[in-house]
Order: sequence, then structure tokens, then C-alpha cells
Amino acid sequence: MAKSHSRRRRVLAISGSLLLVTVLAVVAVRAAAGPTQAGGVPLRDLAAERGIRIGAAANPYLLEREPDYRALLAEQYGSMTAENVMKWDSLQPERGVYDFSTADVLTAFADEHDQQMRGHTVLWHNQNPEWLDQGEFGPEELRSIMRDHIDTVVGEHFAGRVYAWDVINEPFRDGSGELRPNLWLNTLGRGYIAEALHMAHEADPDARLYINDFNIEGRNPKSDALYDLAESLLEEGAPLHGIGFQGHFHAGGVPEDMAENMRRFTDLGLEVTVTELDVSIKMPASAEELRTQARDYRAVVENCLEVGGCTGVTVWGIGDADSWIPSWFPGRGAALPFDEDYAPKPAYGSLQEALGG
Ligand code: XIL
Repeated sequence: MAKSHSRRRRVLAISGSLLLVTVLAVVAVRAAAGPTQAGGVPLRDLAAERGIRIGAAANPYLLEREPDYRALLAEQYGSMTAENVMKWDSLQPERGVYDFSTADVLTAFADEHDQQMRGHTVLWHNQNPEWLDQGEFGPEELRSIMRDHIDTVVGEHFAGRVYAWDVINEPFRDGSGELRPNLWLNTLGRGYIAEALHMAHEADPDARLYINDFNIEGRNPKSDALYDLAESLLEEGAPLHGIGFQGHFHAGGVPEDMAENMRRFTDLGLEVTVTELDVSIKMPASAEELRTQARDYRAVVENCLEVGGCTGVTVWGIGDADSWIPSWFPGRGAALPFDEDYAPKPAYGSLQEALGG
């Protein structure tokens, strides 16, 4: 799958029907021959044999225009998360006006390729529409807005098509055990978390409901606070089923105690998932850093396999050119298992090895 940028441009220039033929051909090769063009048995098949899922965050715009992106997503990943298009600003851009068009590009692809879909995300402090952020709603009105969104999104639209939801995203301040001030906390108080979980459970009783956060992979004040929160939610009878460990790492930065830390959550009866894995490198990436990165990817999958109750690992994108890292963290990049041309990097090989391939 390695190729030059100029070839990539040529590929982009060919007609839609030819693209479709190309994609079908790649999928047919996978079905017929097993090993993929990325090399070896696909990650999704290896993961299934080990009883976990390997997923990727996906973007419908790339899915529609990049044949290699489509092919890798279909071949390699058995689960999918919407990188952006299930966030509030995409789904309810105007009050009471829902738009599922881009999200449904992903659910249709997932159906077609036998992939399970994680829902991301219900309540967050980012990527909210202006009407919601600036609305200055009182508690009663905000609660009814929340219920309408959850009933419509988690219930009516996606029930049966999304198996797990990040109901609460990034509820803690970074580096501390304090809840993060946001629209929900400021108006409804800390009870917003339990309220949202109950509403989501009523909307789709089959969905696995998660709290998802970053910098909680090892033991630290933030993961301690999350642990206390999870324990008290379970004591109160809130329908919390899992903890999402985002897993945005710097190369060499996977905490030694990650498995042990995840295990204390599974000891509470929760499942755990690595939901947004990427391993960024200060650019330009040296061969040695790429090897460190490969070890990190391997360590994360091994940690998940080591913890009964870890359902799997989702990587936050397909190839380095699509990753959010360079635009959010200037000077860093090369964070994913496939490079800018969708060629496999050492990290891809180590994911395969970690899964027993
Ligand atoms: C990121 C997306 O990858 C970017 O495209 C977008 O501009 C900002 O959000 N934690 C999360 C994800 O929970 O939703 C974020 O995704 C990355 C950090």
C-alpha cells in the first residue's frame, strides 16, 4: 500500500465508479486470500481470536474520498468510533434540528463491513453548538435539552446500531482530581453525570455506557478521582458500565502501571477500553522514535490483553496524514500505525505481534 504522493493525487483523480471497483477489489482480496496488502492477518481478525476488538476513529469525508483509507478501515478494524460527527455540534446544530447525514455515512459503512460502532460523545465541554454553549439555560431547561438529545440520539436514532457510548467525556480537569467546570456541571451540579447515565440507559437499555477521559491511564490524582467517582456512581445504582482510557501518549510515555490501574476499575465490576490511542512523536520522527512508538503500541495492547474486562483498543485515526495531532500539538506528529501514504509503520507490525500474529 506504500506509494508516493503523486500517485495518491492520481488515484484521487480517477472516477467514482473506478474507486468503487478498487475498493471492492481490495475487499475481495481480503476475503479470498486472508492476508492484506498491509501485510499479515488483519488486526481485526487477530483481535477477535484474542477476544478483544481493535477499532479506529473514522471521518466520513476521508472515507468518501480516500480509497486506501476505506480499504484499511474495512480490512483492519472491527470497531469504529466517529472522530467528530457524533458530537453535539454535528448532530444538533440548531436547537431541535437534528442532522444524522454524516454520522450515517459511518454507520452504513460499519454495517456493510461488519464493524461495531462506539458512540462518541454525549456530554462534553468541546464541540458544542453555539446555541447550547451561549444559551444560559436554567437547570430545568438544560435538563430537558439533555433529555431530548439523549432520547433522540442514543434512543431513537442509534439504538441497536451503537453498542457503547462515551456518555461523559473528559469530566475532570487535567492534572487534578477536580471535576471540570463545564456547561453541565455549572448548571446542574455534579449530579449531571448520574442524570445523563440514567437518561442514556432509558434511551437504549442495551448500550454500554462509559465515562471517557485522558491522562488517566496510570495511577495519578486524576485517575484516583475518577476511581472514586465510578465507585460512588455504582453505589448509587447509576448505570455506568465502563471506563474509556483515551490513550493519547507521547512516544515512550505509556505508564508502567497501566494494566494495574485498569484492573482496579475492572475490580469494581466495570469494563475498560482504550478508546483513542495514538503515540505522537516530536517531528521529524527518527527511526529510533518509530521503534519506541512501536513498543508503546505493543505495550498498550498487551496491557489490555492482560486485564480481563478490557474490551479492546481503538486507535485515533488511520494514517498519519489524517491525525488530529499536528494541528492540535504543533511540532508533533507521526502518531498512528500507518504513515502519510497509508503504508504500515513498525507500530503496525508490533500491533500484529502483540495480538499473536
Ligand atoms: C478531536 C478530533 O480528533 C479532532 O478532529 C477535533 O478537531 C477535536 O477533537 N479527546 C476526545 C476526542 O475525546 O473527541 C478528540 O478528538 C481528541 C481528544
